[in-house]
Amino acid sequence: MAIKYGRPIESKVRVVPAEPAASSRQDCLDLVQRPRRNRRTDWARRMVRENVLTANDLIWPLFLVDGDNIRTPVPSMPGVDRISLDHAVREAERAAKLDIPCLALFPYTDPKLRDENGTEALNPDNLVCRTVRAIKKEVPDIGILCDVALDPYTSHGHDGLLADGQILNDETVDVLIRQSILQAEAGCDIVAPSDMMDGRIGAIRQALDDEGRIDVQIMAYAAKYASVFYGPFRDAVGSSTTLTGDKRTYQMDYCNTNEALREVELDLEEGADMVMVKPGLPYLDIVHRIKETFAHPTFVYQVSGEYAMIMAAAGNGWLDGDKAMIESLMAFKRAGADGILTYFAPRVAEKLKQGRLL
Ligand code: PBG
Repeated sequence: MAIKYGRPIESKVRVVPAEPAASSRQDCLDLVQRPRRNRRTDWARRMVRENVLTANDLIWPLFLVDGDNIRTPVPSMPGVDRISLDHAVREAERAAKLDIPCLALFPYTDPKLRDENGTEALNPDNLVCRTVRAIKKEVPDIGILCDVALDPYTSHGHDGLLADGQILNDETVDVLIRQSILQAEAGCDIVAPSDMMDGRIGAIRQALDDEGRIDVQIMAYAAKYASVFYGPFRDAVGSSTTLTGDKRTYQMDYCNTNEALREVELDLEEGADMVMVKPGLPYLDIVHRIKETFAHPTFVYQVSGEYAMIMAAAGNGWLDGDKAMIESLMAFKRAGADGILTYFAPRVAEKLKQGRLL
């Protein structure tokens, strides 16, 4: 055996130990199918891979705050900040360079501007409208999605109008229509009602059309469950301290599946262009069933709590954060999602720019 610097050089030749060759036919199981053959090498695994994740699959949610040159970390969402308009424009530029097609905007409203009826939602110069205009001016080719709901604006933290402890459906829809029109006028491309009021998709579509805004798309939060996983988001928009009670009279009961199909069916009949399921990872069955049943563009929201869980485990050294991020995002693609709203959007898009994910 040749020796170089005191080591047998053969040891360098084969790094991966080969499976011991079966010494004779008798030692082999008589198998026609050996699925492991297709998994044996990296190139073969890539060749038979069924799903891919690209930057086109990403929608990046941003939290906005009033002021100038502000970045305030959200403690329950490590790596996510509330940012002022100037930073939002820069993030939009970054997103465009990373080929992220769309941003979703969520405001942290100054507590002084919050009231019972969420009137700040109807201020054409509110934080969201100003930011939409600024981004559209500087980065016209990126899509902007605006959430339609009152919770960042109400003093009680609910998505709708509240009277005697009840959320008023039709009165709320009336406000949501006006909120949608203002966002459309500011230049937003997609309105995304996240309030779960009955009939709001049809009412908003009608109102947009009446205003001549036939090109504004609607992404319906169609199957939105009353979930504990929204906790960190409520910290970010400042509604966790204000919220009285819970949202179970309008968001869905997480014990149900058929109800999600009925919600999606209604939203599509009322004119939704795209539907969304939320939360994400614990609801892959819902994503899959909706996509199989309706074959419409189907999105999924990997919500704040899901992000926080991965980041917390990674921060403690209990999980490889990047790998958990990629595996979770791939799971959405496997379930049939056409796109994912995720706080990981810039991080995974950076990785995609650097090369292959897997
Ligand atoms: C507001 C809204 C919520 C989220 C998106 N839009 C919170 C809620 O319904 O209480 C949650 C997003 C997340 O947790 O990342 N209607």
